[in-house]
Amino acid sequence: MHLTDDEDQLRQLEKTVRILQKKLERSEADRRQLEQASELRELLLKAVIREREESQLALEQRSHELETALENLKTLQLKLVESEKMSALGVLVAGIAHEINNPVSFIYGNIGFAEAYFRDLLELLQLYQQQYPHPTAVIQAKQNAIDFNFVTADLNKLLSSMRIGAERIYEIVRSLRIFSRLDESEYKAVNIHEGIDSTLVILNNRLKPSAACPTGIQVICEYGELPFVQCFPGLLNQVFMNVLVNAIDALEENSSSCESLQSVSPSSQPYIHIRTVQVRDKVMICIADNGPGISEALRSKLFDPFFTTKEIGKGTGLGLAISRQIIVEKHHGSLEVESTPGQGAKFVITLPINKHAN
Ligand SMILES: Nc1ncnc2c1ncn2[C@@H]1O[C@H](COP(=O)(O)OP(=O)(O)OP(=O)(O)O)[C@@H](O)[C@H]1O
Ligand SMILES: [Mg+2]
Repeated sequence: MHLTDDEDQLRQLEKTVRILQKKLERSEADRRQLEQASELRELLLKAVIREREESQLALEQRSHELETALENLKTLQLKLVESEKMSALGVLVAGIAHEINNPVSFIYGNIGFAEAYFRDLLELLQLYQQQYPHPTAVIQAKQNAIDFNFVTADLNKLLSSMRIGAERIYEIVRSLRIFSRLDESEYKAVNIHEGIDSTLVILNNRLKPSAACPTGIQVICEYGELPFVQCFPGLLNQVFMNVLVNAIDALEENSSSCESLQSVSPSSQPYIHIRTVQVRDKVMICIADNGPGISEALRSKLFDPFFTTKEIGKGTGLGLAISRQIIVEKHHGSLEVESTPGQGAKFVITLPINKHAN
């Protein structure tokens, strides 16, 4: 009886052990399943992360490509605008200069003869007056009617002012031709000062006193002894034009703001100072103004294409970008700016005297 009890207990125990073992096996299976699932999840996660990294890399590469494409596009556009601007302006200027050149040559060339003929006729009349001191009534009446004494005195002044005018037109036409230099688009040695002077003649109208700048703009040229410089003269003149027009714009802007503050003093008389000097195998052309100057924040963007602080329609923001391209790429020189805000700006062009173009 006692034994059966024991056996019973033993069986009970074995059963419990079996149940426990089963449970253990099941939980082991569950654990493995869980483990597998977590491994799978980890794999999936890694795949997702890798994919994300790859797509981010692709995106970065794409945006880099886009940036490069945009940069290329801007450069291309700049080149297009440059050639477009240059050829359109050059053709126009050269055409006008050519058209004016012929008629002005008639006037300029004949004024000398007109003066000589007038002198001869006057001498003849004086001779008549000496030989026939008592003119008839008809002659006397005509002399009074035309105010003979006034006419003879005034005709001289008239002819000399016509001569000055014709000389001025002649000079402008010559400057236009030098400026456009359409016939000299190749690389050649020229006198830089002639280019600057012709640009100033063309800009003369903007330097005179005007509503925008009642005092006018004084130009001080301090030219050094320069040799002829190998360059593309037409393009170089375009750079002088861009830098000088910017200086005039800045001075006009300053002048109108000074006027509104009513603080124009003699020291604030607007000026542009052009200085040229040879430094070893280079020439330096410094164009400085006493305008508002350029803040440091703006200075870094100054040469960027399309950067402008001028109102829409006034500036395209291409002047300095094109100028730097002309100086650096075409002439292997440099174009730099120096400025103390409130005290004006200075643009320094450095050109090798004899550097072969690319
Ligand atoms: N002498 C200067 N003084 C003060 N600011 C200047 C001077 N020169 C240039 N700048 C500044 O640099 C900017 C860029 O000049 P840039 O010549 O490239 O373009 P723009 O004159 O605005 O337009 P665009 O020359 O194409 O008609 C100007 O808008 C102006 O703010
Ligand atoms: Mg400009």
